[in-house]
Amino acid sequence: MKAFVYHNYGSPDVLRCEEIAKPTAGDNEVLLKVCAASVNALDWRLMRGKPLFTRLMIGGLRKPKVTQPGVDVAGQIEAVGRNVTQFKPGDGVFGTCRGAFAEYTCAIENKLAPKPINSSFEEAAAVPVAAISALQGLRDKGRIQPGQKVLVDGASGGVGTFAVQIAKSFGAEVTAVCSTRNVDAARSLGADHVIDYTREDFTKSGQRYDLILGANAHHSIFDYRRALSQDGIYVMVGGGWTQILQALLLAPLLSLIGSKKMCFFVANINQKDLVLLKDLLEAGKVVPVIDRRYPLSDTGEALRYLEEGHARGKVVITVE
Ligand SMILES: NC(=O)c1ccc[n+]([C@@H]2O[C@H](COP(=O)([O-])OP(=O)(O)OC[C@H]3O[C@@H](n4cnc5c(N)ncnc54)[C@H](OP(=O)(O)O)[C@@H]3O)[C@@H](O)[C@H]2O)c1
Repeated sequence: MKAFVYHNYGSPDVLRCEEIAKPTAGDNEVLLKVCAASVNALDWRLMRGKPLFTRLMIGGLRKPKVTQPGVDVAGQIEAVGRNVTQFKPGDGVFGTCRGAFAEYTCAIENKLAPKPINSSFEEAAAVPVAAISALQGLRDKGRIQPGQKVLVDGASGGVGTFAVQIAKSFGAEVTAVCSTRNVDAARSLGADHVIDYTREDFTKSGQRYDLILGANAHHSIFDYRRALSQDGIYVMVGGGWTQILQALLLAPLLSLIGSKKMCFFVANINQKDLVLLKDLLEAGKVVPVIDRRYPLSDTGEALRYLEEGHARGKVVITVE
């Protein structure tokens, strides 16, 4: 089968489309015929292996240990391992795996859920990492409540477009922060207020928020703290390396002072939340926003585009 692999760290130029053996499902896994995959910042960050601590986190100091990129997947089950009870060959599913940028991949049963009945494979593949990060950031870390003032910074990217819709589904009053060209799209996703970050700095407006989700955080942690209400919570999902380091090192300390809370978290992909998202998609409360679609052969271009940092929603790979 065809699969994208890399044997050295670097730009998308290190990616190779190779003929490799079709994988065999382990006892708790299914073999998936990949119909679509989606690209996450994680994919290009791991491929770059920069900064160095990303290599320390995943192993592979000089050469990558994980050589097949691609986590988000949607496809059709071809075969199931002997302990798999929830799925059978022919079922359409979505979730996460390793090596999604390929014709076939194996995925653990409990990292998958049935594909939403009203979604295409492309739409389903756009969901897992980005939507679960938004959901867990708002619900579990942010303890979102109906009527709260919630601000999503980086509202036009993969995580942000889900976060705006999910926050609305929880009954929050949502402010989306994005650039001029994405203002209308943010409104159409349901945002009650939209701030164009090229014209206005929300951290200096005097407005306070109960919950700020840094979907793509570009301000200093002190700016976010200033924009929080008395008992407000700041949850950082991602952003620049400075912001990530600040959140890792300073958020726990700043949370000890006063009643404002700040944290960074890493999403935990699980079947329960995939099923919850499937229900939200089927109810029409969440609609994946797909910016671009690339054929499998153009996986490198898809990664390159996402790494530029201005995708409007998700970037999807389609597999013939
Ligand atoms: N912690 C976790 O478990 C977890 C999980 C998933 C993702 N992440 C991280 O979360 C971050 C976001 O992921 P993503 O998939 O949403 O990325 P993405 O799709 O690449 O984000 C691109 C979006 O960010 C917007 N943006 C760029 N600069 C901005 C700024 N200064 N202010 C506001 N928005 C800005 C861009 O809008 P414009 O073009 O208008 O500038 C674009 O729409 C990444 O750093 C990723 O690594 C973390």
